[in-house]
Amino acid sequence: MNFFENNSKLEPHKILVNFIKNNPSIKTAVDLGCGAGRDTKFLVQNNITVTAIDRVDVTKFLYKDLTAEEKARLAFEQAKFSEAYLPKTDLVISYEALPFCNKEALVKLLDKIKNSLNENGYFLCNFFGKNDSWFGNDKIQFYEKEEIEDLLKDFKILKLNEIERDGESAMHQMKHWHVFWVIAKKV
Ligand SMILES: C[S@@+](CC[C@H](N)C(=O)[O-])C[C@H]1O[C@@H](n2cnc3c(N)ncnc32)[C@H](O)[C@@H]1O
Repeated sequence: MNFFENNSKLEPHKILVNFIKNNPSIKTAVDLGCGAGRDTKFLVQNNITVTAIDRVDVTKFLYKDLTAEEKARLAFEQAKFSEAYLPKTDLVISYEALPFCNKEALVKLLDKIKNSLNENGYFLCNFFGKNDSWFGNDKIQFYEKEEIEDLLKDFKILKLNEIERDGESAMHQMKHWHVFWVIAKKV
């Protein structure tokens, strides 16, 4: 089974589910690095219009099992973050994807995200910390809390939760997860 097949079986992130429950005014969202669509699907099923962006063509996973009405709320853009067009939106989410950007690309992307957000729009994302089992993999970026605060200095950080736990990767390998979970707002 490949990564996207495994990823398609995962539940949406709990922090996003709770956020949407508490913020019913969100009508539009962008999912950056949507993968097989665990979060995108949750959003369109909750009446939110979503632009899902990924460099891989994930349409067969994204549209699977959605109703015609839900499909109508979903647009997929196959693009690298550096080339992607981000429409104006109430919410940008990016889970387990920003760590794959090098720092220079990330700074540019954060600027693009800020410009895409409507007034009072929200940005939810996560980053890996240096105690993560994958630390040392040169394709992945790892951060200290203060570095994340600095990267997000042009946003208002509402939550920055640092969580360490042992659990499975999408490929069913046990690992130590060290993850910073962010809820930020456009200022
Ligand atoms: C680990 S998966 C996470 C998928 C999903 N967001 C989740 O939380 O399950 C990372 C996704 O980001 C995409 N991705 C990574 N770097 C990217 C880039 N520079 N431009 C566009 N997509 C990228 C990958 O193709 C992959 O689908």
